[in-house]
Amino acid sequence: MRMLVFGGTIFVSKAVAAEAVRRGHDVVCAARGTSGAVPDGATLLRIDRDAPDALADLVGERFEAVVDTSIMSYTWVTDALAALRATAEHWTFVSSISVYADEITPGQRPGAPVVEPRAAHGTLTDRDADPGLYGAVKVASENAVRDALDDLALIVRPGLITGPGDGSDRFGYWPARFARGGRAVVPDVEQEIQYIDVRDLASWIVTGAEQRVTGTFDAVGPRWQLRDLLAAIASGFDAELAPVPPDQLVGAGVGPWVGPRTLPLWLPPEAAGIAAHDPEPARQAGLRTRPLDDAVAGALAHERALGLDRPRRAGLTPAEEAEILAAVAENP
Ligand SMILES: NC(=O)c1ccc[n+]([C@@H]2O[C@H](COP(=O)([O-])OP(=O)(O)OC[C@H]3O[C@@H](n4cnc5c(N)ncnc54)[C@H](OP(=O)(O)O)[C@@H]3O)[C@@H](O)[C@H]2O)c1
Repeated sequence: MRMLVFGGTIFVSKAVAAEAVRRGHDVVCAARGTSGAVPDGATLLRIDRDAPDALADLVGERFEAVVDTSIMSYTWVTDALAALRATAEHWTFVSSISVYADEITPGQRPGAPVVEPRAAHGTLTDRDADPGLYGAVKVASENAVRDALDDLALIVRPGLITGPGDGSDRFGYWPARFARGGRAVVPDVEQEIQYIDVRDLASWIVTGAEQRVTGTFDAVGPRWQLRDLLAAIASGFDAELAPVPPDQLVGAGVGPWVGPRTLPLWLPPEAAGIAAHDPEPARQAGLRTRPLDDAVAGALAHERALGLDRPRRAGLTPAEEAEILAAVAENP
């Protein structure tokens, strides 16, 4: 199969390209080539999607499958469709669980209401200033893909993606933290969590292209109680869990999910449903998820490659954690 992967130089799109090459497909990656190298065996077509006529070299090219991971640009999505919709035989768009309007109710699946679409071109900086923009652009982008080639389109909405290449520092915080040993602060909350390993997501996307799977799916793994997941991860290491209730964490200036001085995978109550979607439709459509140990090993190998002592985008520093443990001991 001849496959075009937009990107291919980092994380999700790179994992898709690598898996497609591994299965013997002829893979072209369309990117600037500034974020990294494409996988061995794939061909880099240098394009800048922000440049005028960026896709001129692709018009008329024939690909059995196209995979687009455009993070937050309706323009990129519609330009790609304009250039390739006439010849593409299957099209995967990587959307996000952030399209859903209701972030509280657990057990949702495609068909549940989504946010209002916004046909905008945004950047990660824009998302910091306007957190709703990401989901809204994803909805507009999904709609554009469905409108252009509904019966050829696979729309995947991942939740938290983890594994080799994850630049968000969220899931990987926990194996990295437990590998350090000692007493580890964990949130003492009733909350569900789910994740998808990037290698499983990539494998499913390639299989979807091979088997012409179409429709809209939440690309999510099994639902866990957060405390069970953290205990299961910790069981492979010599660490002791120190559960701290949310009010004490907030009192100590610790936030949920992502950012400095946070505990990743802990969600604010108003977003407690975003990591509790129904994994069954995607499973029935072929998504297979590896055992937790394997996901943890992949995340930890990536963490070690980045350096366990690096400044992080999510988590507590050892000094912050020691401070919180001392404060909790003083005011149990
Ligand atoms: N991380 C999560 O937990 C999570 C959760 C839900 C959904 N998602 C979705 O998963 C996808 C992640 O995709 P990804 O990992 O491949 O990363 P990405 O951040 O969406 O895309 C990065 C790719 O785009 C290329 N690129 C960036 N600017 C470009 C430009 N101006 N022209 C051409 N190419 C350009 C980059 O290559 P060069 O820089 O080399 O050009 C790189 O290969 C996104 O759709 C995201 O919304 C992520």
